[in-house]
Amino acid sequence: MNFTIITKSPEETKKLGKEIGKLVKPGDLLAFYGELGAGKTCFIQGISEGLEVKDYVTSPSFTIINEYQGKIPLYHFDVFRVSNIEEIIELGYEEYFYGEGLTVIEWAEKIESLLPKDHLKIEIKFKTSYERKISFIPQGNKFNLFWEDLIRIENFRNRYLH
Ligand SMILES: Nc1ncnc2c1ncn2[C@@H]1O[C@H](COP(=O)(O)OP(=O)(O)OP(=O)(O)O)[C@@H](O)[C@H]1O
Ligand SMILES: [Mg+2]
Repeated sequence: MNFTIITKSPEETKKLGKEIGKLVKPGDLLAFYGELGAGKTCFIQGISEGLEVKDYVTSPSFTIINEYQGKIPLYHFDVFRVSNIEEIIELGYEEYFYGEGLTVIEWAEKIESLLPKDHLKIEIKFKTSYERKISFIPQGNKFNLFWEDLIRIENFRNRYLH
């Protein structure tokens, strides 16, 4: 089942990311889709807080991947500038995608053929300048019941944020 949440500020997107960062498990992969400035990095900064990463997470545009230490390792890919999928193969993507940390990928559409069967697709769309429509679209079976967690997060958000 797909699940959509509207956020009304960068802080709300970060808080949503933080709750999700508390839920993810070693080996999970989150694939982010959304235009420039949609809020992918913002969401991932929230995830890093949920994972108790101490460093400040920024977009790794020039390095393809940044690795952070938290409760579990965070592998942050930004493949915007990747023009040839070989670049990802050469840096040994399997060690990350099938490793012991959480992998998050900005511009996942660029390397879609390398994504594992099981992953959570997260699509961020502009609604207004300050609102974003964030859809969670499970791929494979692993994340099929993730919407139950999302409902809990949404109830929590409704109680405390609005
Ligand atoms: N509801 C919202 N959620 C997230 N960001 C928002 C929201 N409203 C406004 N913004 C703004 O949108 C921008 C999102 O920037 P961010 O770097 O996270 O985008 P991105 O998707 O990672 O872009 P890029 O593809 O360039 O990496 C920030 O300037 C943020 O303040
Ligand atoms: Mg970004």
